[in-house]
Formats: sequence, structure tokens, C-alpha cells
Amino acid sequence: MLLFDQIPALKTYLRESRMAGKTIGFVPTMGALHEGHLSLIEQAVKENDLVICSIFVNPLQFNNTQDFDKYPRHFEKDINLLAPYPNLYLFLPDDRTMYGEKPTLRMDFGALEQVMEGAHRPGHFNGVGIVVSKLFHIVQPDRAYFGQKDLQQCRIIESLVRDLSFDLEFIMCPTIREEDGLALSSRNLRLTPEQRKHAVLLPQALFLARDLIQQEQKDFSIVRSRITDFFESTPIRLEYFEIVHSETLQPVQTIADTSRIALCIAGYLGEIRLIDNILLPE
Ligand code: PAJ
Repeated sequence: MLLFDQIPALKTYLRESRMAGKTIGFVPTMGALHEGHLSLIEQAVKENDLVICSIFVNPLQFNNTQDFDKYPRHFEKDINLLAPYPNLYLFLPDDRTMYGEKPTLRMDFGALEQVMEGAHRPGHFNGVGIVVSKLFHIVQPDRAYFGQKDLQQCRIIESLVRDLSFDLEFIMCPTIREEDGLALSSRNLRLTPEQRKHAVLLPQALFLARDLIQQEQKDFSIVRSRITDFFESTPIRLEYFEIVHSETLQPVQTIADTSRIALCIAGYLGEIRLIDNILLPE
């Protein structure tokens, strides 16, 4: 597998591939790869002549330095996981390559970022928006693949693609889960076995809320308080549970407010913060 750590060499290679008529798929990641990432890569490999996967733990999107320092970094293992895929190339830049100087640009995604992750992680989507824009400029993909696991990130990037006229197709891929329902996440690697057992409460809460809504519970304030109660006397510190419009991500009060909703959750196990969501109807 070809590995690029410098921007000019990657750009030259991609320019030549484009001139040869090849389509380019792109899967940006922060590494510590798992089956969730690999599902994006598999779809990209199927749909494009060549695929770039980037691994870059982007300092700009971490609002908590401890989270950044402790973010798992398994580059050797990641390279081995990617090796079997045909026509897959890895872009593995370091901080200096990506940010010679710390960018002064500020991105504001308006109402989309004033809820959930944006509200609880100030500056997070500014960092995501800047790094994804830079990567899109470097790779200039035909298609870019993101996971529904980070639904708000998907909506933010869709708006970025629209607002800045990036010439690419944005593709949202389904969330891959463990057998017990826990969404795969690089941060799961930091859970103790005890915390891992309790982490399943997050998807269980989402499934409980889904069942209540499917059983015709039209008043979402009742669903919200059932979910808050659900976490009482559990080790999970619930940060938010939101029922939102699936596109605008603004809170909705009743099923009549929109045809499609998203149930979104974030909670802490010790110092490890996990998020999850489901869309309804599925
Ligand atoms: P990271 O958390 O490494 O995720 C990379 C991609 O994998 C994202 O699109 C994410 O939504 C997707 N993903 C993660 N877990 C998944 C799962 N269980 N099922 C399906 N897809 C999953 O998201 C980022 O990195 C960064 O913010 C990034 C976009 C790379 C910008 O730095």
C-alpha cells in the first residue's frame, strides 16, 4: 500500500490518476481504525477507482487537551489493517504538514452547531470544518464518505460542501455496532471492562426511546424524562438526550413537527465521553 506523508507528492499522484480518468473516493479518519471505519473504506473501494484514507488526529477539533493527549494512536496497526485493500492509499500527515501556522480562520455553522456536540464542545466544529476543508482541497475527491455515528458532523460537512461549492458527492454510511448494540468508536478502546459493560446503556436508551415513540408516545417531553430516569443510579453521566429534526438538528416537541427525527445521546463513563444516535423511521 502506498503511504504519503507529504502534500505535494500526494497531489502529484492524484493529479496523474485524475488525468488517467480514475475516480477518487476519500475517507478521512483520526485512526485507531475499527470496523466502523473499515465499512466506509469498503464502500469507497467499491464505488471508486482509487481511495484515499487519511489518518490525522486533528488538534484543532479537541476542546479538551486531555482527550487529545489520550486519543488512541495505533498507526502501525492501522497500516496493517489497510494493507489488504486494493487501490487504497494512506495519507498520514503530521501536525506541521497540516498546519505550518495555526489557522486564524473561524468557521461558524450557525444553528446547526448551536446544539448537542457544538453546544458542549466549543470550537469543535470549527476544527472539523477547517481540517475537512483542507483535506478536501488536497485530495479533491469525487466522493467523500462519513459515518452516521457522527450525525451532526455529517450535517455540518454537508453544509460546508454546499456553502463552499466543493465539487464532490457527500455520502453518509450507516453506524456499525457491536453485537450488544454499542456503536464502534475509537474511544471505546479507553473503557475499562466494567465501563464497557455499562456503555451499552447508551444504545439501550436510544432503543427504549424509539420503542416509546413507535408505541405512539407523541409527547416528546415524556420520552425525554423517561430517558433521564433511565440513567438514574447507573454509572453513566448523561450529558444530553435530544429528539431533533433529522436534517436541521433542531429540537422537536412532537412527531407532528417533522417526518423524520433523530434521537441523539451523549454521556460520560468516568472521563470518557461517548455519543450515539438513531434515525426514525429507520
Ligand atoms: P473518526 O472519529 O476517526 O471517524 C472517521 C469516520 O468514521 C467518521 O466519518 C465517523 O463518523 C466514522 N465512524 C466512526 N465510528 C463509526 C461507526 N461505528 N460506524 C460507522 N462509521 C463510523 O470523525 C472523525 O474521525 C474526524 O472528526 C474527521 C472527520 C476525520 C475530521 O478530523
